Amino acid sequence: EQIEKGGYDHFMLKEIYEQPAVIKDTYRGRLHANEGLIKMAGIEDNLQKFLNADRILIVACGTSWHAGLVAEYIFEEFSRIPVEVEYASEFRYRNPIIRENDVVIAISQSGETADTLAAIKLAKEHGAFVFGVCNVVGSSISRETHAGAYTHAGPEIGVASTKAFTTQITVLTLIALRLAQAKGTLTNSDFHRYLQELELIPEKVQQALETNDTAKAIAAIYKDAPNCLYLGRGYNFPVALEGALKLKEISYIHAEGYPAAEMKHGPIALIDEQMPVVVIAQKQEHYDKIVSNIQEIKSRSGKIIAVVTEGDTQVRALADHVIEIPRTVDALSPLLTTIPLQLLSYHIAVMRECNVDQPRNLAKSVTVE
Ligand code: G6P
Repeated sequence: EQIEKGGYDHFMLKEIYEQPAVIKDTYRGRLHANEGLIKMAGIEDNLQKFLNADRILIVACGTSWHAGLVAEYIFEEFSRIPVEVEYASEFRYRNPIIRENDVVIAISQSGETADTLAAIKLAKEHGAFVFGVCNVVGSSISRETHAGAYTHAGPEIGVASTKAFTTQITVLTLIALRLAQAKGTLTNSDFHRYLQELELIPEKVQQALETNDTAKAIAAIYKDAPNCLYLGRGYNFPVALEGALKLKEISYIHAEGYPAAEMKHGPIALIDEQMPVVVIAQKQEHYDKIVSNIQEIKSRSGKIIAVVTEGDTQVRALADHVIEIPRTVDALSPLLTTIPLQLLSYHIAVMRECNVDQPRNLAKSVTVE
């Protein structure tokens, strides 16, 4: 097992560090930035289905559901197709409206999650076209779906999903870009810029991994906190949810993710000097809004851990701790902002002597209801 961990203390850490390579593996052969092309057989063969779709329904569980939420923002922005993201377990039991012109995308690392599989079967019964985004080749979901695109994350052993999440976002971004190209919903220059930025992501993820020492130092300060709040806006709202999920899964600290602006409708009541608040505060659209959210936390003595864009000064002046990551276009930022949050959870869990790779009560693949 030590050999399989490749010199890392845990599979989770190894998998976090594999992300630059596996994101590249996931777009290799598909993304041709110089030619302005995206080639994915599963999409090309079914392009008309996607183009005729009245809407896209995404079904998934856990971390894969968070990847679906990121995809919702990206699909709607790039390809202007309405998207709904559903927990597979809710979808399957609530007599959902599924039409023949719906495209259903099922996202699953393992390809074996019982609820997701059942949601797929239901969608097929209603005549929808079902597309799978799976990591495990030949898995049940990859076989049950009409078509699909694999993530190339390699085996993910740590129960808490890391590299599966970023590669799912990579695949879904490629699909959204291809559809945008076919529909003409992005300008030519934006389309090319996104392709080029996507190609730069592995290198930037590598830089984001350099926040490891900072994340570890912050972990040492907050490892005994009973609660933690994660806030983000727009593309980074799902990243806040995922950051909170990672922390609770492996460290057993109660954590909640929230859209930053929604804080005033509840979580703000929890903020005092004991409450660490992780804020994803990228220099992007609505930056001024996130700055004012941070001010609201500060005026209630909350402790602010901000994930900022390199060179940021405004948030730095307000936050108790900053973690700097490289700049990219807004839509791709989840691929970077996620990294320090994974590292933060990892170090907190290690310091609390938790079983990082196999947290209590959790399973890697949930094949029962
Ligand atoms: C379990 C795992 C999670 C995963 C979820 C969905 O809860 O512990 O890490 O996100 O299942 O799994 P899937 O394989 O369908 O992505």
